[in-house]
Formats: sequence, structure tokens, C-alpha cells
Amino acid sequence: MKSIAIFASGTGSNFAALQAKFGDDQSGIHIACMVCDHADAPVVGKAKAAGVPVITINYRDYPSKAAAEAAIVAALPPVDMLVLAGFMRILGPTLLDAYPQRIVNLHPALLPSFPGRTGIEDAFAYGVRVTGVTVHYVDAGIDSGQIIAQEPVRVLVNDTIDTLAARIHAVEHKLLPETVQQLLEQD
Ligand code: GRF
Repeated sequence: MKSIAIFASGTGSNFAALQAKFGDDQSGIHIACMVCDHADAPVVGKAKAAGVPVITINYRDYPSKAAAEAAIVAALPPVDMLVLAGFMRILGPTLLDAYPQRIVNLHPALLPSFPGRTGIEDAFAYGVRVTGVTVHYVDAGIDSGQIIAQEPVRVLVNDTIDTLAARIHAVEHKLLPETVQQLLEQD
């Protein structure tokens, strides 16, 4: 049995997708915990409802990012991979060095285009006809680590941000769990 820790900050629809695929442990992958940097984020309720242990870290309670990350490292049970699913923070060396090549992130655009928090909106505003979803290893940069998997999503002539975002999220919910499973099966 392999185990993962999911990191999330907000809605948690990708947490829910990972939970749907791995929650019963039948796949050989166990969700050991969910780490959140906002105690009142909707993802916290989703994790609790699913019976997944929640580690909440309020970065403002710590003197530095390194101190907050050290608290996360200390609180984490042993896991094979950290899965960032909507975790809205840039990781520092404390976490990166504790899990070398073991941290993956989900991004709602085809990297290296449109990194950052507003990848869907930036791609739409630019006018690209194809955007998509990327799963990549995390490094110290902003969405700059080695790409693991990508899937394109066409921008349709009648798309609004909302209709495009809905199709991108649907692809995310499939690509992230599949990629995590493939990586851990190869491990
Ligand atoms: C996703 O679009 C992910 O790509 C981005 O943040 C969003 C998180 O959504 N990094 P959710 O909280 O999983 O619903």
C-alpha cells in the first residue's frame, strides 16, 4: 500500500476526485491526510466528512515560511508522495528538501504557458484556441517543475471563463488521480 498527503487551500473539488478514486484503499493507494493552510476552507469539511485526518497550518502563527513548513513536516505521517491539489502557496526548501521528486502539483493551463494563480483566465484573455491541464513536479519556482502529464482542452467560440473553467476542472479531476496512480505504480 502506498500513501499520499493531499495539500489544498480552497474548494477541494480535486480533493474530492482523489478521494473518489482512492478513498476505499482498493486501488492500493491510501490518503493519509489532508494539509490545509485555511481552517475555514470548504476542503476541510470535505476531508472531515470523508474521514481523512486534517492537518491545518495557519502560516501566520509562525515566524517564517520555513517554520510553518517545518511544522508541516513534523506533523505529516510517513507518505510516498505529496499531492498539491489547489494549494495556493509556493513551497520553500524545508518541504522541497524533505520530499525530493515526491511532490506533484496540478495547474489549470498547458505549462510553461500561463503559470501562476490565474492560468485559466490568462489563457482565455490571451485568446489561445487550446489550453489544458498540467501535472508537474514541484520545484522552488512558480509552476516551473518538470512536466509529468498534460491534457489539452479546446477553447470553443462561445466559451465564457465559466464554461471553459468547467471543462478544465473536469479534465483535472481525471488527470490528477490517474497520474498519481501511474507514478506510484511505477515507484
Ligand atoms: C484547480 O483549478 C487547480 O488546478 C488550481 O486550483 C484549483 C483548485 O480547485 N491550482 P479545487 O480546490 O480542487 O476545487
